[in-house]
Amino acid sequence: MPASLPDNPDWWRSAVLYQVYVRSFADSDGDGIGDLRGLLGRLDHLAWLGVDALWLSPVMPSPNADWGYDVADYFAVLDEYGTLDDLDEVIASAGRVGIRVLLDLVPNHTSDRHAWFVEARSSVEADRRHWYVWADPGSDGSAPNNWVGSFGGPAWTLDPASGQYFLHNFLPEQPDLNWWHDGVRGAFDDILRFWWDRGVAGFRIDVCNMMIKDAELRDNPPATEDDPFIMQMFGQRPVYNGNRPEAHDILRRWRTIADGYTPPRVLLGETNVDTLENLATYYGSGADELHMGFNFPFIEAPFDAAALSEIVARTEALLPPGAWPVWTGSNHDVSRLATRWCEGDPRKVRLALLMLLTLRGTPVLYQGDEIGLTDRAFDKDELLDPVGVRFWPHYPGRDPERTPMPWDDGPNAGFTAAGVTPWLPMADAPMNVADQRADPDSVLHLVRDAIALRRRSPDLLGGEYTPDPVDDGLWVWRRGGTLVALNLSAQPREIGVGGTPPKTVALSSHRVSEGPVVEGTVDLDAWEGVVVTSRA
Ligand code: NOJ
Repeated sequence: MPASLPDNPDWWRSAVLYQVYVRSFADSDGDGIGDLRGLLGRLDHLAWLGVDALWLSPVMPSPNADWGYDVADYFAVLDEYGTLDDLDEVIASAGRVGIRVLLDLVPNHTSDRHAWFVEARSSVEADRRHWYVWADPGSDGSAPNNWVGSFGGPAWTLDPASGQYFLHNFLPEQPDLNWWHDGVRGAFDDILRFWWDRGVAGFRIDVCNMMIKDAELRDNPPATEDDPFIMQMFGQRPVYNGNRPEAHDILRRWRTIADGYTPPRVLLGETNVDTLENLATYYGSGADELHMGFNFPFIEAPFDAAALSEIVARTEALLPPGAWPVWTGSNHDVSRLATRWCEGDPRKVRLALLMLLTLRGTPVLYQGDEIGLTDRAFDKDELLDPVGVRFWPHYPGRDPERTPMPWDDGPNAGFTAAGVTPWLPMADAPMNVADQRADPDSVLHLVRDAIALRRRSPDLLGGEYTPDPVDDGLWVWRRGGTLVALNLSAQPREIGVGGTPPKTVALSSHRVSEGPVVEGTVDLDAWEGVVVTSRA
């Protein structure tokens, strides 16, 4: 870990995390693809914004069948992004401005071009054959069981040479590893240590709930009418192709390795599970599995005070003692919060960001959230995400939220050089970082001010979350002596905040009502939120 960063083992609890989708962040060499030197050139933006840590989407070599989530070598950097030296420089330079770097670890599957799979496929006798999940066909030659892949179609592909099927919970180019095999476990111990020894602060762990499958490969049960839409669409409940109790053994093993470092390395899981009860289990005892797990029920909820507050309250109640929530509204797999929650309405965007930055827990912003970036509408022939290609027109896939970062109003919005075609079209949204930096009333300044307020407020960093009952779109909670009030409605509202001790609106999402509170009440505009503190 760079010497400039303190060893506080709990740094991640008070942190604001920021997801960098490297391919779309900043291009330094004019090939239309974001890269590590591009990121280096934009660290000043991240330091100015005040974020504490970055999660970089996969940077390892990959044929990009699934844009980096098909890893061909776990010990190197994709040429298009730069070199290991560049990554070391990112870690050191970020450290100098107080920012830590987490990488993305993809342990559920590799690329089919990974040397392990090439070897496994070469012969049923190969040493690493059973590092992957192979099974004989059914008596009629069909797939070994009924599992469907998360990207559609059967989760099995026949390998004609051996007559066996291999498992892939995602694309056929992403064969699933067999986590029952000690060789796989040992190999990943080495991968963790390789990166953590280089000063990587932790990992975001891809689909960590799927890693291990039912040892008997039993059929999944059919979905019922009570199951979430996505399960009904796939026609089955994913009981046996993932979500097995033994996944927790792997996380405990990794936590032991992580805890051996100073400061301990952090495990942030992609816990895309159906219920909050299930999410809570990935925290283990509260101190022996994940440090943090993404809350998908929250991400997928509508932008509605009753729905969101219920998820927050239940999350708070269900997490084991000492466990720490994570709040996020966008990532590279879901429509951006500015579009999905807020329909591009800047008032709602400001409110959503204030919510993320004032709940108890660690917020994770996705690049572009800080300027309220919206999704781009794609035509079919522009799509690069295999999931969009497959499901068009019912679902456009994930390209809409992966468009390059708009830095300024120059050619290609400053993402890449003039005259270059970016790997994905620019968002064409009427916002960029430079314009907003010049405007103190912008979304960008609001986010920066909210991060700064959080950092100097022991209440916002560590205070308990104590909500009032939601009242017709008005969601109010206390964090110690600090009050947060969000008006998720189109009606103006008045709230009483008390007069003793005297109060001040420390931050307003609309920036209009900041300052001393008069007569113990605060007027909230439609879709306005405020943070109210005691006047010193
Ligand atoms: C989750 C990742 O976030 C997503 O982008 C990817 O396609 C799947 N896991 C498979 O690795």
